[in-house]
Amino acid sequence: MERGSFGSKVGIVLATAGSAVGLGNVWRFPYMTGENGGAAFILIYIGCILILGLPGMVSEFIIGRHAQANAARAYDKLSGGRPWKLVGYLGILTATIILGFYAVVAGWCLQYLYASVVGQLSGDAEYVKNYFVSFSSDALKPVLWGVGFVLLTHLVVVRGVRSGIEKASKLLMPILFILLVIIVIASCMLPGAIEGVRFLLMPDFSKVSSKMLLEALGQAFFSLSLGTAVLCTYASYFTKETNLLNSAGQIVVLDTAIAILAGLMIFPAAASVGVSPDSGPSLIFITLPNVFQQAFASFPFAGYFIGVMFYALLVFAALTSTISMHEIGTAFFTEEFNISRPKAACIITVVASVICVFCALSVGAYKELQLMGHPLMGFCDQLTANVMLPLGGMLTCLFVGWYVPKQVVRSEFTNNEQVSGRFFSIFLFAVRYVCPICIMLIFLHQLGVV
Ligand code: PHE
Repeated sequence: MERGSFGSKVGIVLATAGSAVGLGNVWRFPYMTGENGGAAFILIYIGCILILGLPGMVSEFIIGRHAQANAARAYDKLSGGRPWKLVGYLGILTATIILGFYAVVAGWCLQYLYASVVGQLSGDAEYVKNYFVSFSSDALKPVLWGVGFVLLTHLVVVRGVRSGIEKASKLLMPILFILLVIIVIASCMLPGAIEGVRFLLMPDFSKVSSKMLLEALGQAFFSLSLGTAVLCTYASYFTKETNLLNSAGQIVVLDTAIAILAGLMIFPAAASVGVSPDSGPSLIFITLPNVFQQAFASFPFAGYFIGVMFYALLVFAALTSTISMHEIGTAFFTEEFNISRPKAACIITVVASVICVFCALSVGAYKELQLMGHPLMGFCDQLTANVMLPLGGMLTCLFVGWYVPKQVVRSEFTNNEQVSGRFFSIFLFAVRYVCPICIMLIFLHQLGVV
């Protein structure tokens, strides 16, 4: 079994954070918040992260580190052959579908990086909006950028250059963070920005609906990379010394902080330039170029530089996430079918590229590509985030809570009693009852049963 191929062991927790932080925070979180009315959604989102996300993440860590194997085998190994490995299969399928549509958006970011370097994004708000519409409806460009992104991910996964990526992320992630803070300040200083701040901070609970609950839950899992067995696969490379609860806590705090900053960056600017918060997936693309121009109008070079840096870092953050989605399928095929890593990686790359092509076309040149009333891209997004991820997360919690022997769970949680087990009983209660029941209720509520 080829288990050493994952970069440096030291960087593995960093790589897990890299998987979590990505377009889910900067692109998906603002547009979901915008579509769901703002502050109330954010509060429910934070609730989902803390009550369901954190225990779910620790559960996946426990399974992965204990089993030291790819997702499907890990579930199989811990359950003594019961059909739990289907949860692993479900995770691999989910991650590959996500990779397909995620690459479309990552491709948009590549195009925006290019456009900001060559200065194509300067114009008024109307121009910025039209730029997105005309680029995304091109039959070729979004497809090429998207598939290009899958291929880039493929190269990193097979070439074993990931230790370089991990080292780079140690430097680049803090820069992304600082840049976000600068853009937040710039955005909040635009005329009329206060409306956007209000949208984010003043909850209106009359807007809470079952759809909002489900979308907050789905967004929480999407953003934490939870429910796909990505965390389980990464944890299989953790060392015995990694403190699982602490690592999960740090990742959760970092991930949530970046999402909130992204919200604070987008909505004040959107209010200022008259972009509607519920503009959907195009929201950050039709808002941000305005900030780089208008907020830095007296220092155009600073605006140019910050814009280019921002898109470059966004591409990097997206790459550390797509690597994780790709890795779990690659690890699975390599270990289960005994084929070489490059061959295994090719399978994932081909499947994800096909999904990517159809998704890109469904929101661009071929809007007829629809499934159940949604463009194929929106369908894949909703199916994975609102159904497959919560389902995977719920089954994982049930598995750890009820099927894995309690001593195994405890010894992973406490590193064989080397670190504190103070929160163990709370954790066990959460994974046995709170997480499965809450997720079930949210599902049933959405279906109109309760
Ligand atoms: N968490 C990633 C992000 O926020 C997306 C992701 C989802 C990664 C599922 C892996 C698995 O961008």
